[in-house]
This record gives sequence, C-alpha cells and structure tokens, in this order.
Amino acid sequence: MLAGKRILLVIAGGIAAYKSLDLIRRLRERGADVRCILTAAGAEFVTPLSVQTLSRNTVFRDLFSLTDESEIGHIRLARDCDLVVVAPATADIMAKLAAGFASDLATTCLLATDRPILLAPAMNFVMWGQPATQANLATLTGRGVRIVGPASGALAEGEIGAGRMSEPLEIVAAIEAILDAGPLKDRRALVTSGPTYEPIDPVRFIGNRSSGKQGHAIAAALAALGADTTLVTGPTQVPDPPGVRVVRIETAEQMLAACRAALPADVAVCAAAVADWRPVATAGQKIKKKEGAAAPAIALTENPDILATLSKPGATRPRLVVGFAAETENVVANAQAKRTRKGCDWILANDVSTGSGTFGGDDNTIQVVDASGVEAWSRMSKDDVARRLAARIAAALA
Ligand code: C5P
Repeated sequence: MLAGKRILLVIAGGIAAYKSLDLIRRLRERGADVRCILTAAGAEFVTPLSVQTLSRNTVFRDLFSLTDESEIGHIRLARDCDLVVVAPATADIMAKLAAGFASDLATTCLLATDRPILLAPAMNFVMWGQPATQANLATLTGRGVRIVGPASGALAEGEIGAGRMSEPLEIVAAIEAILDAGPLKDRRALVTSGPTYEPIDPVRFIGNRSSGKQGHAIAAALAALGADTTLVTGPTQVPDPPGVRVVRIETAEQMLAACRAALPADVAVCAAAVADWRPVATAGQKIKKKEGAAAPAIALTENPDILATLSKPGATRPRLVVGFAAETENVVANAQAKRTRKGCDWILANDVSTGSGTFGGDDNTIQVVDASGVEAWSRMSKDDVARRLAARIAAALA
C-alpha cells in the first residue's frame, strides 16, 4: 500500500526508539522508501548502524554536515518526502515543534517541511499529562499535525499509564490513512459515544456505566478509512481518537445540539448511552439533607432520542444511520423492533446482561440487524467491531 511513498522518519530520544527499528522494517515491507533522521538523544537508544542497515539509506544526524549542501540540503531533506513521521515523539521535541525551534537537524526539518507531519508520542504518563505537554499537543493538532497514540499500559519505568508509543503496525495504519486517503475519503461521519450526565443539582447527576470504548473505536476506525469524523462524546476516560474532531458534552440535550451542528454527514453512528430521562428541574444549589424530612422525589422528563431524531426523513438525514441496541434478553427481536421504531438503517445489537462483560469490557458480540435480516458476528474486540463496522459502512456508501 505504501509502494513508492517516501517517508522521512525522525527518531528522537526515548526508550521506545527500539520500536522504530521495527517500524522502518514494516514500512519497507510495504514498499516505502524510508529516510531517517536520528537525533543526538535518539542515538543514545538505537545505533546509526541499525537505522542505516534497516532503512538502506544514509542516516542523517548533523545539521551542519547538511548545510554545506555537498550531500543533500536540509530543506530538500524536509520536503523530498510524502510525510514526516516523528517516532518516538518525546515531550521535548513536541515542545520544540510547538514553539518553532530549529536547534538541530530534526527540529529544522520539522519547521522547514511543507509535508504532513505525524507524531507518535512516547513518554512517562506524568510527562504526557502535564499541562505544558497537553497545551503543546493542542497547539500542534490545531495546526494540522496528526497524532497516533500514545497507548495506555505498562511503561518502561515500571509505571502504568498513558504514554506508550503506539505499536509499529498502528503507526503504519495511521501513515496509510494519511497517504492513501481511504475508501471514506470525501465522506463525513458523525459518531456519538459515552454516557450522558443529567444534573440533579450542582454536584449530583443521573448517569450510566458506558465507557465510550466502542464509540471512540468506531470514530477512530472511520477516520482511519479517511472519513472527516466528528465524535460527540459524554464524559469518558478514553483518550481522544487520532484524527477525529472531538466535541465534549454532558447532557442529552447538549449531545443533540452538537450532533445537529455536525450535520450534514454521510453516516451517523449512535453508540452513546443516552439517559432516557432527565430531572425536570436542576436545583441551583446542592440539595440539603434535612433532619427528619422525607427523601426528596426527583421528577423526570423524557430526553430527546438522538438516534430517532437523526433518522427522521429530511434534507439533513445522513444517508446511513446506525444505532446500537444494548439488550439483556430477546436481543434480535428487540433490535428489529427498535430499528423500525427509531427509523434507522442498521442496528448493532449486543447482549449486555450481567456476566456478558460488554459494559466497560474490551470485547463485544454483535448481531447486525438491517432491512435484509440479521448478520451474526463472532465475539471480537471492540476495536475489531469498529473496523468491521467501518468497512461495512464504506461498502454501503461506495
Ligand atoms: O432506546 P435505546 O436506548 O435502547 O436505543 C439505543 C440506541 O439509541 C443507541 O444507538 C443510542 O445511542 C440511541 N439513543 C439515542 N438517544 C436517546 C436514547 C438512545 O441516540 N435518547
């Protein structure tokens, strides 16, 4: 898929640099020409010889050996490629890129390039969470820099958290998504995810246990196929999917307004667990417990049904509207009835009964109900469900 593509890979100084050697191999396997810049700190982790041998190209390390233009100018190095990838992207190189430094060959090329830039951040989770790093990240994404990862998990120091560099094949997928625009190029996608919080008073709310894992994975999978994707999400702990516009809301009414603002879209996938009811009134102050008084009654009113609203025939109805049905019994029959009632095109039905492990878990067992019948998918990870759904959507919109 990457045949003939030229990638400039900047390897900065982090322990994850060892994965970049495998990344070079994976890119070359797919036909890409890989040129590498190894920073001084990067060379403390992997050797120039390894990088050179795997890339089968000269390794570039020194700005001043390039400025005499005897070999290749740094401006040419920065532009003579289809994409610049920084892996690992350390907190330091992200800060320099955000601030516009050109203090060595890597930062000079990053400032001089007019090609898309993809960063694969890798650092300790505290460094990743620092306001400074997050502000730099926001600056960079705001300028169109693409990000893949970082993943959560065990870090080299023995700590656990967000900061692991994405695996080489995930970085390859992100590169392919950027370079090969994918089957959903020119399509707009809208995805809802997570729970909604319906306030009772300033400190209490009605919510639910939705993790947002499935909805976020779907947004990532649609973006990976090239769709211009907006994710409208309630409060979740899941990291923002790469390359996706994320709109954060709390209530169902805010979610509906954000969805309307994201239209027109070619496809809408409603994976959010929207609260069916909200308190009629939200108390302005925290409701106090009074000695001997009865517990307060909370009057509820129905929330808007976002899936049904998006499914209504009209000029702004997405061509394809997909909903979920979380059921604890009669899964398919209930999903079929729900599809008709809501007016959507497909329902992905899943069993969330106690013991199914679906809510908050990493796996899902899906049955797709559409006008032509039922398609049963074997149990798979939520990421695989997302990829399979994105592929089905791409086929339907083709
Ligand atoms: O009616 P029920 O909640 O079972 O339907 C589930 C589907 O409807 C999901 O796709 C969910 O995202 C969507 N939904 C919605 N707005 C609501 C309630 C559910 O979009 N208020």
